[in-house]
Amino acid sequence: MSFLEVRDLCLDVGGFELSRIELKAEKGDYLTLIGPTGSGKSLFLETIIGFYRPEKGRIILEEKDITDLPPDKRQISIVYQDHMLFPHMDVFENIAYALRKKLRDKKQIEAEVKQIAGVLGIDELLHRKPATLSGGEKQRVALARSLIVRPKLLLLDEPFSALDARTREKLRDTLKKAISEYSTTVLHVTHDFEDVWALANRVVVIRKGEVMQAGDPESVFKRPSPDFVAEFLGTNVLKGKVKAFEGKLTVIEAEGLKIYSSDPAKPGEEVVVSIRPEEIILSRGTVESSARNTVKGKVLGIFKKEHLVVVEVKMGNAEIKAVITPTSCEMLGLEPGRETYAVFKASNARIIR
Ligand SMILES: Nc1ncnc2c1ncn2[C@@H]1O[C@H](COP(=O)(O)OP(=O)(O)O)[C@@H](O)[C@H]1O
Ligand SMILES: [Mg+2]
Repeated sequence: MSFLEVRDLCLDVGGFELSRIELKAEKGDYLTLIGPTGSGKSLFLETIIGFYRPEKGRIILEEKDITDLPPDKRQISIVYQDHMLFPHMDVFENIAYALRKKLRDKKQIEAEVKQIAGVLGIDELLHRKPATLSGGEKQRVALARSLIVRPKLLLLDEPFSALDARTREKLRDTLKKAISEYSTTVLHVTHDFEDVWALANRVVVIRKGEVMQAGDPESVFKRPSPDFVAEFLGTNVLKGKVKAFEGKLTVIEAEGLKIYSSDPAKPGEEVVVSIRPEEIILSRGTVESSARNTVKGKVLGIFKKEHLVVVEVKMGNAEIKAVITPTSCEMLGLEPGRETYAVFKASNARIIR
């Protein structure tokens, strides 16, 4: 029997259903759950922790059926995007809070708080109030508070999504260290593929309340459905095959185009290339540079998005999106039917498998 087993789980919240979810995790596994917004990821976590009572199915944790237990008897902790720290308590008290219900000994509580604060790099912040902390620091406190009770299962519901990229990256490293130190089993809902690559040994894809795919990240993303991946990333996705590896560049033939990527890959390998819309520059002519891609295309459509302009361009057999400023759109005289060149760096043509 696995450490965590979710069997045939069904939940009906009126208008939305989780249907027949099966999931297994071994002790120490790090599972990421991905899926479009509204696919039921948060509901799933909240059913695991016991905020919702499933219509059908069982949840077994360490050989114990916890389906009918109240949340506080399950030994499961959850961390959300917005930390929800107690504003009137300092960091020390926030972290110690749950532990005080389990332990009486003040010295022991203090030792435990100091230990977890050390692991999460917040020892200097113990006497501060939450309002004085940065977003990243607050999330460290939220993680400390959840881990200190040594939960059997740690649930993370997009814990990094309000943070900037650098902070996210640092926090990932810290989280990795902390969960290995505390040997925690984790279910982590995320939109960010970096979380999957950096943290997870398993990934579960959820769509419309159902599990679509589960396995190790390599095998799940080996042949992703481009539309599905693009939906998550909001990125351009091109499927192709590696033709050569020249110097430091991989040459890929994808959808009738020749694309250079600085990500390494083997000739013959089938790959999916992702190019973010904001990393594409549109230009009137070609730009000579070995580290750049310059691809001729034709404008299909132009539409406004907030204060920017999205230009859809047909290149080869692909339809890609570029995001530019209204000024450059005007200067280039772009309109449907016009020819344009799309320029993007080889380092921005990312091979995602
Ligand atoms: N308590 C609830 N009652 C009714 N519908 C809900 C409730 N909670 C969430 N939903 C709906 O269920 C769907 C899935 O929500 P959620 O699990 O939050 O999605 P995700 O976390 O994947 O973005 C959404 O359509 C949402 O509006
Ligand atoms: Mg959610």
